[in-house]
Amino acid sequence: MSDLLAIHGGPKTRTKPFTSWPVFGEEEERRLLRTLRSGKWGKLHGPETAEFERRFAELHGCRHGIAVVNGTVSLRIALMAAGIQGGDEVIVPPYTFLATATAVVEANAVPVFADLELDTFNLDPRAVEAAITPRTRAIIPVHMAGQIADMDALMEIARRHGLIVLEDAAHAHAGLWRDRPAGSMGDMGSFSFQSSKNLTCGEGGIIVTNDDRLAAACRSIHNCGRLEGGLWYEHHVMSANYRLGEFQAAVLNAQLDRLVEQTETRNRNGRALAARLARIPGVYPQRTPAAVGRHSYHLFLFRLRASEFGAPRAAVLKALEAEGIPVSGGYALPLYRQPLFLNRAFGPYLPEERKQLDYGNVSCPNCERICGEEGAWLEQSLFLGSEADMDDIARAFEKVHAGRAALAAEPAAR
Ligand SMILES: Cc1ncc(COP(=O)(O)O)c(C=O)c1O
Repeated sequence: MSDLLAIHGGPKTRTKPFTSWPVFGEEEERRLLRTLRSGKWGKLHGPETAEFERRFAELHGCRHGIAVVNGTVSLRIALMAAGIQGGDEVIVPPYTFLATATAVVEANAVPVFADLELDTFNLDPRAVEAAITPRTRAIIPVHMAGQIADMDALMEIARRHGLIVLEDAAHAHAGLWRDRPAGSMGDMGSFSFQSSKNLTCGEGGIIVTNDDRLAAACRSIHNCGRLEGGLWYEHHVMSANYRLGEFQAAVLNAQLDRLVEQTETRNRNGRALAARLARIPGVYPQRTPAAVGRHSYHLFLFRLRASEFGAPRAAVLKALEAEGIPVSGGYALPLYRQPLFLNRAFGPYLPEERKQLDYGNVSCPNCERICGEEGAWLEQSLFLGSEADMDDIARAFEKVHAGRAALAAEPAAR
């Protein structure tokens, strides 16, 4: 095969499409039709949501599951259930989807950003400890890309300081830390079922917990402040209707049948690709500590060090794309550099304490380096394929590395 890069007119490394997402089949159709014909479309009337809550919680080592409309409100409800209040501080990573931090703002609390470990892309426990003040009430570790954050260290810090831990496991369905499932190690876990996620129904979320009191609070908040056994028009706490519907749960129940097997496949393929890409100068796949029992690979993260690889990140990503490998530079900004935070555009959520806050002063150098210079990712559905798919991805990286001189010389690359 020609060595000429596809971006310069050479043959593509990969011409076949990768596995498309979502994956679905007859079981989704059967459950959806059954739900349709039953006429029981709401959570409080049909069997699907209750079945899904039970099965999903059990798979994640929890006694309780509260299914809600998305993985943003699941965070918000969990924070409200934990009693987070105006002016409380909640430590979050800056390398995550917006919702991890805005759920804190919506709970009328203050997001405080702590830096990542450069190699795992997850919260650095030392940075978390350094960010703790007398106002800190909670930590939200994100299991970034489906790799569990260092829960040994984070739980130890949390217990020592009396902090609540809410796992943002939006990327980590069926992920394991040794044999402990995502969502079962902190006080609560939150998952998303939005379209791109490893378990999806288009839009949805869930809170899981082993704490009976927190579960009862979440259940009430997601259901208009009602109490179990209470009257329909009896409302006890500030809340709303966040219930997941039966059609979504029907799809999730069918998706759940495949989740463990799909996660095993992604885990196997992701680890194999990481081992192979690590041999290329300047390519640093996300480091996976030995305690990660199963990586969900919602994303395959890597860093690309231009000086060692021999070409700039943007040019390499473009060249990979041309070779037939869909790739992204990932989050372009640490959350605290988003205009929302720089301008404190918090709408009605601006308690007195936060008026002094200047997110322009926040500095998380590892996150800035990942966003601005080195970070990149591949999406989960690529990892549902075969070893041959991994081979194609690796060969594309190797080819682009071999052709790096031409990329480095391109004016557009500078
Ligand atoms: C880390 C993280 N947390 C929370 C969310 C919010 O989930 P949703 O889109 O379901 O509101 C997402 C996803 O999109 C996410 O990636």
